[in-house]
Amino acid sequence: MRADYDALNKSIAALTEGEDDVVALMATVVCEVHHADDRFDWTGFYRVVGPELLKIGPYQGGHGCLVIPFSRGVCGAAARTGEVQLIADVDAFPDHIACASSTRSEIVLPVWNRTGELLAVLDIDSDQPDAFTQDDAVSLRTILDQVFAK
Ligand code: SME
Repeated sequence: MRADYDALNKSIAALTEGEDDVVALMATVVCEVHHADDRFDWTGFYRVVGPELLKIGPYQGGHGCLVIPFSRGVCGAAARTGEVQLIADVDAFPDHIACASSTRSEIVLPVWNRTGELLAVLDIDSDQPDAFTQDDAVSLRTILDQVFAK
């Protein structure tokens, strides 16, 4: 099953209407996103908990590493640069942190609040090589901005 991002956008908007608790919003987003697409084998947030430091938040899938400094991994790169990381082959990413040996490709997006503060990054792993597209990046960005930057 491939994500229908229009439908996903609408369902997440309905489920999160009126809610401003960030943990509740994150838990709802990862649940809906994770189960929307067979490519997504791990879906989760890493929250900004201190200067240059990420800590795991709500996620779906196997256990993830708990703490990631901005200096490390694909998640750290997204947090450090503020740019989406679209990784076709994680083995080709020099400092990839492998929470699961089965991961082949990954997408990580920065998450900002309405004042432009970096809240977290959203990390999605796939066991399929080159699983993610620019359309995924644009559509996920729309969902994240709708939920966290409204
Ligand atoms: N692969 C990520 C680490 C998080 S685990 O995949 C859930 C990274 O390189 O930052």
